[in-house]
Amino acid sequence: MTIQKVGVVGCGLMGSGIAQVSAQAGFATVVREVSKELLERGLGSIRKFLQGGVDKGKLAPADMEKTLANLRGTTELADLAACDLVIEAVTENIGLKRELLTTLDSVCGPEAIFASNTSSLSITEMSTFVKSPGRVIGLHFFNPVPLMKLVEVVGTVRSDPRALAAAKEWCTAIGKTVVSCGDSTGFVVNRLLVPYMLDAVRAYEQGLASRDDIDNAMKLGCGYPMGPLLLTDYVGLDTTCSIADIMFAEFKEPRFAAPPLLKRMVLAGLHGRKSGKGFYDWSTNPPS
Ligand code: 3HC
Repeated sequence: MTIQKVGVVGCGLMGSGIAQVSAQAGFATVVREVSKELLERGLGSIRKFLQGGVDKGKLAPADMEKTLANLRGTTELADLAACDLVIEAVTENIGLKRELLTTLDSVCGPEAIFASNTSSLSITEMSTFVKSPGRVIGLHFFNPVPLMKLVEVVGTVRSDPRALAAAKEWCTAIGKTVVSCGDSTGFVVNRLLVPYMLDAVRAYEQGLASRDDIDNAMKLGCGYPMGPLLLTDYVGLDTTCSIADIMFAEFKEPRFAAPPLLKRMVLAGLHGRKSGKGFYDWSTNPPS
């Protein structure tokens, strides 16, 4: 199993970042979106990030051109037929992932590895959607993908060790550090991070301290790059709430239960950065 050509399904926040780092590391990369409009939006955000790198002096203009030359956008899953590794970063909906993996199973070659970037759904369940469950693994990236160094490589009880080894080698080749873990909801990072974010919301909800004091406490007291409420906005309140719901359903532990304030804010459409408002107002830079 040698990875030369990479497919990414979904060109949203995570998919566009994954496609970018793959192409940037020199891999021929095909990224698929459901519509031309969404594809153009995703490719536009990749161009914007690369241009930002050039403007900051972090990336040579020629490397930006090379990256874009390695990247191809499509709306057809059939264009992923020759890929050695296909990473799905579509909406966290198991029905949608079932449909996608069933199609990929019939489109791609028998040796192709299928990876999911899910943050909380079961990789084992996804492996049952294809004829050879050994080819399914988890590759969990972090937001913003081009800047965050970690990938959690998740193996199920059925994952083929050759698929895991090839995926780890590819992650290293794209400049990431790998942490290996088993298929348990939330893996390592979200198992620890999600209760922390939820606790910050609970502390704020209970009036322990102001938003800024909670965030400053963790930034300045613990050296975290962002406070937990800003981070919740950054990840998305809806995403955080949905991960919490899945983790609570799995572990039945109160620390994974979404606090009422988080649920209400999600219902009110205050989803954080993506919607323009959450705990912070994102119409200003920096958010206020
Ligand atoms: N191209 C190249 N480099 C760039 C760049 C670009 N377009 N934009 C920024 N950079 C570089 C900067 O030059 C800087 O490099 P330096 O450290 O060498 O100076 C570095 O990236 C940081 O950029 P900025 O100075 O502009 O921004 P900040 O210092 O404010 O950092 C951040 C931004 C990296 C997002 C930081 O705030 C951070 O790490 N936040 C925490 C993010 C986090 O925890 N993510 C994980 C979320 S959980 C998740 O994703 C899992 C999911 O399942 C929920």
